[in-house]
Amino acid sequence: MNNIMKIEITDFISNEHVQDCPQKKMPEYAFIGRSNVGKSSLINSILNRKIARTSSKPGKTQLINHIIINNNWAVVDLPGYGYAKVSKVLKKKIAARTKNYFIKRGAPLAGVFILIDIRIPAQKNDLEWMEWLVENHIYFIRVFTKCDSISKNKIIENIKKYNEHMTINNWEKLPETIITSSVKNIGKMEMLNKIYEVNKLFQNI
Ligand code: GTP
Ligand code: MG
Repeated sequence: MNNIMKIEITDFISNEHVQDCPQKKMPEYAFIGRSNVGKSSLINSILNRKIARTSSKPGKTQLINHIIINNNWAVVDLPGYGYAKVSKVLKKKIAARTKNYFIKRGAPLAGVFILIDIRIPAQKNDLEWMEWLVENHIYFIRVFTKCDSISKNKIIENIKKYNEHMTINNWEKLPETIITSSVKNIGKMEMLNKIYEVNKLFQNI
């Protein structure tokens, strides 16, 4: 294995509030998306171990989880949005926690992976989140998940439809896109390469 690809988890820190999150100067990559879209599973796939807690029940991740890699960069597993089965109060609290993380985190936040289930049509809350990230000048990549569950042709067709939907809704430039499957480890190297590319930029700041 190439040395640069060696992944050692050096810390795992969970916090309720952004102000308590680790203060070391290292780039971090946040994973967001609807509940159950596969955030924790994709993190486990790219890190090659079961570190983030996954579940078939939506709403598994509720805290801001920093997974530190090689003492050098971090992945942030965040709670999902849009799940139906928790109380309104808790839903609001978690959503505020996530937004607050994005607003207040500042320099360490090097990029966001926004995960979208390849099987379903464009959803309002995903599009609103992407718009919000643009408005807040936060760099993000659109990541389609669960691509093992439909055919290649269907993947192409669904992304084409998604892009058309975004274009109609005034997106001038379509976001960078990665297609993934945690089950089949598809897109894993592309995700890691992107992270290493941005890590290098971060070192130059
Ligand atoms: P919350 O923490 O609740 O927001 O969910 P999450 O986005 O972290 O989802 P999680 O990784 O826990 O996965 C949710 C469900 O989707 C689980 O039942 C996973 O097994 C399934 N899943 C995740 N990734 C894939 C994938 O690539 N392919 C398929 N077929 N199923 C997947
Ligand atoms: Mg999760």
